[in-house]
Amino acid sequence: MKNTLSLQFSRAVETYEEWALPQRKSARLLVEFINPRGKVLDLGCGTGFVSEYLENCEVLGLDISPKMVEVYKERHGIAVLGNAENLPFKDKSFDYVVSNFSLHWTDWKKSISEAIRVAKVCVGIAVPVKGSVSFSSFPFPDEKDILNTFFPKEYKILNIEIPFEGLDLIKFFHYTGTANYKGKNKLKTRGELLKLAKSIKGEYFRMLFLKIH
Ligand SMILES: C[S@@+](CC[C@H](N)C(=O)[O-])C[C@H]1O[C@@H](n2cnc3c(N)ncnc32)[C@H](O)[C@@H]1O
Repeated sequence: MKNTLSLQFSRAVETYEEWALPQRKSARLLVEFINPRGKVLDLGCGTGFVSEYLENCEVLGLDISPKMVEVYKERHGIAVLGNAENLPFKDKSFDYVVSNFSLHWTDWKKSISEAIRVAKVCVGIAVPVKGSVSFSSFPFPDEKDILNTFFPKEYKILNIEIPFEGLDLIKFFHYTGTANYKGKNKLKTRGELLKLAKSIKGEYFRMLFLKIH
């Protein structure tokens, strides 16, 4: 499962940045919400949207996809190939740990616990939750479960629009590496795909922003 996921994101690396507009917006909002300082881990870093918004910080990325790690390294210096559920760092290795649009792909109890373990000051997370993307059967986590497990110091929920419709919306999921979720209803024919494309409009991600100290 992790290998498939890593391959899926590696394949999308060239198209990710052009299409991932909701992810970019969420990265900016996360940095404004958390205001990280000092030594920062960008968890599930991808190509580095969050790190782009971090000024005067010492950043390090971690991702499960080798291609994402490669691109991140070219832009931001240091990145490590690894799994957010089992971080290769000692306790309190970072001042801040921030993660944007990544932990819904993980066992979030494990990955958030790991983020808390390696952070000295604060953990900031933006994750899409249940209620996102009306036609998807992706198992987005339920915000109540996350809030009742980690009792964040502060949190907010915001809908972030996906600014694509019809076929472009389908392309959006492909080009950002998120189309191949195994549990999704399989679309078998071109006709079915076109029918679905015509009917979908106004989709959004329901984003949970967490500040955990
Ligand atoms: C939608 S992208 C978001 C990337 C980046 N944070 C951003 O804001 O653009 C999700 C990223 O999570 C990574 N990812 C998925 N599961 C992971 C895991 N278990 N450990 C580390 N990274 C993971 C993927 O490889 C991918 O780069």
